[in-house]
Amino acid sequence: MTGDKDTTKRSDLEKYIRVDHAGERAAQQIYRGQLVVLGKHEMGDEIRHMMEQEVEHLETFDTLINDRKVRPSFLDPVWGAAGFALGLVTAAMGPKAAMACTIAVEEVIGEHYQKQAENLGSDEASLKKTIERFRDEELEHRDIAVDYKGREARHYKMLHDVIQKGCRTAIKIAEKI
Ligand SMILES: [Fe+2]
Ligand SMILES: [Fe+2]
Repeated sequence: MTGDKDTTKRSDLEKYIRVDHAGERAAQQIYRGQLVVLGKHEMGDEIRHMMEQEVEHLETFDTLINDRKVRPSFLDPVWGAAGFALGLVTAAMGPKAAMACTIAVEEVIGEHYQKQAENLGSDEASLKKTIERFRDEELEHRDIAVDYKGREARHYKMLHDVIQKGCRTAIKIAEKI
């Protein structure tokens, strides 16, 4: 564990803020994509609630990008479009597939935030607190999707694995560019 160190490397800080900003850009678009299909479905309000939380996450990283002078990902619009498409397509496959997508994505993001929180130094205590709160909210989103029977989606395992592989690849790219 490296969480007891005092100073966070500037290069790590930039990487974290850039990738989180990109991830939250995609996340709120995933839920917007889902809402196009499921806005009037019984789970519509729950999806709207998650989307609003993702918008708050994105706004937080928008502020951090500006305040900490971090270059956003060059692919910022691509992450948004990819998120929207993922939300739209999985929702079109059915409500359970949409929830399977949410489970897959939020598991990866929860893990991702956990790792960052562990690596931030004590000089970044406030950012660490924010990231830990977001981690908890992402895991709540995962739990909501489990309650809505995401794991009962057709081809759940394949869908889950493909989406997670995509998310992990996107994270690696957005950390750098
Ligand atoms: Fe988020
Ligand atoms: Fe989330």
